[in-house]
Amino acid sequence: MLAVAVLAAGKGTRMKSDLPKVLQPLAGATLVERVLASCSGLAPERQILIVGHQAERVEQSLAHRAGLEFVLQQPQNGTGHAVQQLLEPLANFEGELLVLNGDVPLLREQTIANLLEHHRSSGAAVTLLTARLNDPTGYGRVLTDKDGRVQAIVEQKDADAAQKAVRQINTGVVSADAATLRRWLAGLGNTNAQGEYYLTDIFAMAAGEGRPAQAVGCLSAGEADGANDALQLSVLERRYQRRQAEALMREGVRFADPSRVDIRGSVSAGMDVEVDVDVVFEGRVVLHDGVRIGPFCRLKDVELGAGSVVHAHCDFDGVQAGPDCVLGPFARLRPGTELAEGVHLGNFVESKKTRIGANSKANHLTYLGDAEIGAKVNVGAGTITCNYDGVNKSLTEIGDGAFIGSNSSLVAPVSIGAGATIGAGSVITKDAPADTLTVARAKQLSLNGWQRPAKKPKSP
Ligand code: UD1
Ligand code: CA
Repeated sequence: MLAVAVLAAGKGTRMKSDLPKVLQPLAGATLVERVLASCSGLAPERQILIVGHQAERVEQSLAHRAGLEFVLQQPQNGTGHAVQQLLEPLANFEGELLVLNGDVPLLREQTIANLLEHHRSSGAAVTLLTARLNDPTGYGRVLTDKDGRVQAIVEQKDADAAQKAVRQINTGVVSADAATLRRWLAGLGNTNAQGEYYLTDIFAMAAGEGRPAQAVGCLSAGEADGANDALQLSVLERRYQRRQAEALMREGVRFADPSRVDIRGSVSAGMDVEVDVDVVFEGRVVLHDGVRIGPFCRLKDVELGAGSVVHAHCDFDGVQAGPDCVLGPFARLRPGTELAEGVHLGNFVESKKTRIGANSKANHLTYLGDAEIGAKVNVGAGTITCNYDGVNKSLTEIGDGAFIGSNSSLVAPVSIGAGATIGAGSVITKDAPADTLTVARAKQLSLNGWQRPAKKPKSP
């Protein structure tokens, strides 16, 4: 039986933010979400979040996670005090308790699994995940005997000069036998520099009973770094982004510069995908073979069919595009945009809740909202679907092969028949028949004998 407890009650004073530390975002997800994700593959029987500072806000942010239990720590008197709050909810729990810090977001599941494996196979009462840092400032230092068994953990603020020089640090990840841990927790004191109950004091207790904890190292460097302030958070963000970019490059993605891409969600890519500089991916993005993304784009919840090209400066959110589409530069495609194959949407084209059939084009300066557009339609520059009367949204339908002249307003609800032609500058308020020219604009007049007013000559 495995229970996971994530410590997330602290204020995060060093972050200097109204937002609780564990709700600070890293690559589009909160720190605490990332911590929970790092252990969800281990299928724990119980998952408990210890909340305190702005508890409601933290709970709300995780309301979608079924099976997550919340335990309140009020006031927040340290990490040991936080785990003491589990004495009641886990009073009868037999098995292992895995403790994670809510501000250590880059831990890999394999590293946690490796810790648990060591813990189980050694039969130890408690096992500690450690890391070796060139600069251990701020972390608890792990003091070991000559066989590497943990004798104690000393916090930075309580450490003397020799202890500060120790580079092996406490990651905050602890696996312990629940029953033994309950006994140790009951004996914690708070005589230290911060006047807090430290979870880390259990390691001296374990050593004192002749059952010192085993120390297990992280599988990769830097994965257990905590995010205590804005600077550390930014370092972890870049590290995470590098990790994502490397994984995609191993799949064959060509980045013009892997340090100038941000992935705040998931990206999956086929072969021969190219991504130029300064592209931000959000949500779930799927790029099929041969997709090319130009510079300075944001793509959120987007799927692009094979061979599609996105030119520079596009903003897409909720877009499904078939193969061989050519989009942008400067296109803004909004939720509900569905494009069949070979669609071209050019500069300053905006779409929303619009389906467009194969090989249709709107190459310049157009708004398409709440529209059903057929195949091989040509939408001229400056065409607007007038879909909103201030209260209701209405549909514009355009049949296959229609040609919409430039600067036309299509006042919805309205339907343009297949093969219809709309004269430039028309304001279409009634359905336009198929295969017919419809023009709705004032007739052109030329007035014979009209004289342009002339200025009177100035008197000297
Ligand atoms: C803690 C460890 C330190 C370790 C480091 C790893 C202790 C005493 N220190 O230090 O040895 O090297 O993590 O990153 O354990 N929290 C609560 N309730 C509280 C206090 C904190 O839930 O009363 C939560 C915080 O929200 C945070 C986590 O516990 O998620 C760690 O607290 P933090 O104050 O960041 O501890 P560190 O000083 O980083
Ligand atoms: Ca911390």
